[in-house]
Amino acid sequence: MRDAEQKEPAAFGVYIHWPFCLSKCPYCDFNSHVRRAAIDEPRFVHAFKAEIATTAARVPGRTVSTIFFGGGTPSLMQPATVAAVLDAIARHWSVAPDVEVTLEANPTSVEAARFRGYRAAGINRVSLGVQALDDRVLAELGRLHTAREALDAVGIARSVFERYSFDLIYARPQQTPRDWAGELERALAEAGEHLSLYQLTVEPDTPFAALHAAGKLKIPDQDTSRALYDTTQEICAAHGLPAYEISNHARPGGECRHNLVYWRGHEYAGVGPGAHGRLNLGRPDIGGTRHATATEKRPEAWLTRVDRDGHGLVTDDVLTREEMADEFLLMGLRLAEGIDPARYAALAGRPLDPLRIAALREHGLVETTAAGRLRVSMPGFPVLDAVVADLAA
Ligand SMILES: C[S@@+](CC[C@H](N)C(=O)[O-])C[C@H]1O[C@@H](n2cnc3c(N)ncnc32)[C@H](O)[C@@H]1O
Ligand code: SF4
Repeated sequence: MRDAEQKEPAAFGVYIHWPFCLSKCPYCDFNSHVRRAAIDEPRFVHAFKAEIATTAARVPGRTVSTIFFGGGTPSLMQPATVAAVLDAIARHWSVAPDVEVTLEANPTSVEAARFRGYRAAGINRVSLGVQALDDRVLAELGRLHTAREALDAVGIARSVFERYSFDLIYARPQQTPRDWAGELERALAEAGEHLSLYQLTVEPDTPFAALHAAGKLKIPDQDTSRALYDTTQEICAAHGLPAYEISNHARPGGECRHNLVYWRGHEYAGVGPGAHGRLNLGRPDIGGTRHATATEKRPEAWLTRVDRDGHGLVTDDVLTREEMADEFLLMGLRLAEGIDPARYAALAGRPLDPLRIAALREHGLVETTAAGRLRVSMPGFPVLDAVVADLAA
């Protein structure tokens, strides 16, 4: 390993999944559930603690560099629940002094009112799901907040936390590059060091998929999507927040360190219903194994399993060299910094095909940095899936 990656100490992240939302947004296929009755948070705390203990017994001695509460809507958790989970993590592993602890929050006033409590619990970064700055669009997206409320929540986040980010969804029905440019400029005026900008994906089996199939939801065509993507890159770069990942923008140093754990192929534990993990039992590049883990998705069934077994794992697969190498490529090439080809070779047991790299380079889709890293070029990002498929073939 050289340059960018080598300067990073071995990272270990912990992901905690909170699987509940107040309502289900019609475009969303995340593991999120709506419940009429109040959630029994002490019961979840008990199960989170058990699953953390079981995971730590399997991968002991790690220093936790990042923690991420994702969802669902983690800003529906009581601050005391968040504090109890953080306490359990610190009891079983060492926690780095500069640990990044992020919580995903929905920007309603009720949730923003809990921000100080989260900070007292140990959260030092929030990521807010703003999605759009237009009330009509927010209603179409099924959101429970207005643009004003979202911007107020961003203001509260700015005053309470050291670091904050927010998400927007673009390439929405009828959105033109001009509309989006205006909205993005307004968003950048409120942004701190980080923004996540996702193109709307019509996910199978969602209400949006049904509307789309019935011709009632018209998403931008390929050319418009490309123009929207290019607009995003230009405006964000001009404001000092270039893309460091295909959908994520930051000022240098403001990157989400937790997500970098995924994209750089490091190790992470997944805790809670439907959480995914990658655990290294020994060093996978020199004979150890890397496990892909996933837990039961249904919250109540997860609780039952954890009560019975101490964990909710339903998947615990040893990845083959080929799978590790493909995943490394798939995740790493999303990053502007690209990958270290030597690490790919160590995982795969063979180097990337120089002829394929040369062909992609000739088409202007990939480039090799002075330090020898392989990365996707700006024109390559909109066709990233095809570039990865070609290299992995
Ligand atoms: C799992 S959500 C959790 C955040 C929080 N519950 C919220 O909705 O604000 C994480 C982010 O994924 C993005 N997202 C979810 N579904 C999407 C879709 N179908 N297309 C594009 N972005 C999507 C949204 O921007 C959202 O903020
Ligand atoms: S609030 Fe977030 S996680 Fe919940 S349904 Fe909406 S987008 Fe999905």
